Amino acid sequence: MAFTLEKVVPWGRSFNEYLAMFALAKKELRKRFLGCCDGPASFNCMMKHRGGHVVSVDPIYRFSADEIRNRMDETYEEIMEQTRKNKNEFVWRHISSVKELGKVRMAAMNNFLSDYVAGLKEGRYVDASLPTLPFKAREFDIALCSHFLFLYSEHLSEDFHIQSIEELCRVASEVRIFPLLELGAKKSRHLETVVDRLEKGGFVVDIKKVPYEFQKGGNEMLRVRLQ
Ligand SMILES: C[S@@+](CC[C@H](N)C(=O)[O-])C[C@H]1O[C@@H](n2cnc3c(N)ncnc32)[C@H](O)[C@@H]1O
Repeated sequence: MAFTLEKVVPWGRSFNEYLAMFALAKKELRKRFLGCCDGPASFNCMMKHRGGHVVSVDPIYRFSADEIRNRMDETYEEIMEQTRKNKNEFVWRHISSVKELGKVRMAAMNNFLSDYVAGLKEGRYVDASLPTLPFKAREFDIALCSHFLFLYSEHLSEDFHIQSIEELCRVASEVRIFPLLELGAKKSRHLETVVDRLEKGGFVVDIKKVPYEFQKGGNEMLRVRLQ
């Protein structure tokens, strides 16, 4: 099925949220990162400013900066309204209100947009989609995947999860995925079987608590490595 902009609701997390979601230690920031499904998040842009190395991959990068900005403007109010309605599904600790959430997300997405054209030229934003990635084996030290795998468990099959995680493990020495919840703040229906199948396939898998919780109960990441 074609990937069209009408299907995308751009919503990007900030650099500090990435640090917390993936429990990234300062010394790890020197590593080569793949930001998978990064969308309009600001991790790549902020790491570039710090001299770090991140390549982000997402099908949204086939669209221009103007197209992404227009889509952000079209969908912003709807996301805010949905968040107000479902306010009880979230923990308002790191971010204290829906209004602040809007500010944090817009600041992150504006940072992304300010870096996007240069990043495309430098090959830091790559238009590609799981479960197949256009990278060489072990091109990265750590692959991060925020708010895509497990979150959309209702729409993405268990096999899609396995293929995607195996592909991420091919291109990176370690894979970190956050959160392990699906929409509605429920534990992903695929989590247990996916962990079991990965372990049987020779991967080392662990679940680690992280210093971040926005969706209630969403404070764990999955780490996967080939043995
Ligand atoms: C909810 S957003 C998360 C953005 C970012 N990771 C963050 O946490 O702020 C999910 C992203 O997954 C991207 N996406 C959708 N299908 C994909 C696929 N098959 N492979 C990689 N990314 C995909 C979407 O374009 C979107 O940008």
